Parts: sequence; C-alpha cells; structure tokens
Amino acid sequence: MSTRYDDTTRTPQEYEVLTGGGAEAAQVAKRGISRRQMLRRATGVSLGIVGAMAGLGSLMMLYPNLEGQFGAPITLRNKAIYIPAEQKEMLLDQKGMFYESSAKSYIMHLKSGGTTQFLQSGVALDNSMEAQDWLKDGDTFWLALYQVCVHLGCKVPFRDDCNSFKCPCHGSHYNIDGEYIDGPAPRSLDRFTMTFDSSGNVTVDTGKLNQHVERPDVGTRVLRLPYVPVCSAQ
Ligand code: FES
Repeated sequence: MSTRYDDTTRTPQEYEVLTGGGAEAAQVAKRGISRRQMLRRATGVSLGIVGAMAGLGSLMMLYPNLEGQFGAPITLRNKAIYIPAEQKEMLLDQKGMFYESSAKSYIMHLKSGGTTQFLQSGVALDNSMEAQDWLKDGDTFWLALYQVCVHLGCKVPFRDDCNSFKCPCHGSHYNIDGEYIDGPAPRSLDRFTMTFDSSGNVTVDTGKLNQHVERPDVGTRVLRLPYVPVCSAQ
C-alpha cells in the first residue's frame, strides 16, 4: 500500500521528519511552492540585485563623486601663503601669481597702488569686477584664472619676462588678470569662483567656470596693459 503524505495537515516539524526537507521546505510545500519555483525565485532575486548594482554603478559613472577633485570646490592653501604683488612685480610662485595644479588655475593676488593701475573706478570698476569674478579682500584683489587658452585649449603659462600670459600655440596674449590683449583668442581667460573659509583657506570652485569675460576695449579694460606689450613666442 502506498503512503501519501498530506502536507497541509502536518506541522513543519513532522514534515521535516518525513521528508528530510526541513521546516523551511515544509512551509514552502504548505504554500504549494515547488523547489524548482523556489530556485527560480532565488535566481530572479539574484539577477535583480545584480541589475540594481549595475544600475548604481552606471549612475556613479554618470555622476561621479568629485568631492575635492577638479570639477568641484577645491580647498587650496591659506591665503597668507599667496603673497600679494603689484602688477609690475609679479613673479610666478613667489609673489602675485601662483599656479595650483589641483585646480588647474593661476591664483592672482594683486596689491593695489604703486605700479597697479586700474583703468576704471567707482561703480564701473565694481561692476566689471563682479562680472569677472574678482574677489576683493581689504586693499588686495584676487582672481582664479583657468589655465586653458580660450582659443583652442592649450595650457597658457604665466611669463615673468612679459608680465602676462602668453599661449605657446598660436600666440594669444592675456594680461595678469586674464584680460585679452591680442592674438586669435575670442575672449579673455575664463575664471573660477573663489572664496575664503573661516580659517582663511582659499577655495576655488572648479565646478563654476565663468566663460563670459569678453575682449575688453579701452572703455572696459580693468587693468592697464603690461609693461611688455609685445611678448615673443618662446
Ligand atoms: S590655443 Fe592658445 S592661441 Fe591657440
């Protein structure tokens, strides 16, 4: 005589003794779910998790965490490190002009008076400075200039001998504040927004690029032209 077990009338413990499938299997059997169905469901859940992880990975690639990296605010050194200089006295990485590779920027710290000559004054100067992301701090002035030439993208060096920026590719020439002087560039150098934190550290927001500083004319130029208006190619 064959024995037929009625799963629905046994407790999980009884089922375990009779089938060796364990209490979990008994519950599954009680719900009418076969082992194959259970495996299918487990596979489905696993595939779902893998899919979700892949989706998350794609999202992270699309929106990478740029904290502290180029493309986000970058905290540089304390402002006391950036010794200010007058327009004529700037020396790269010594005074007035400092290169910061992490921000791909030149930090200009300009001392007013002496050889520094602003060509505008009052509201006109304030408006130009605000539009061009100048930062005023007491009687000195700051700018964070993006290193890339706005003509075709070469890296532009600051030239101590020319007291200005000169692009080695096609000769675009920019004043110490990035204002266009001559050459094929369509506008002045681009700038990043700059702030100081409560400890006086300089932060450059490399996620906020001002690409709207036009070629100045005599009425809109902020600083006088450098002492060496003709800067030969190196
Ligand atoms: S890339 Fe600088 S002048 Fe052409």
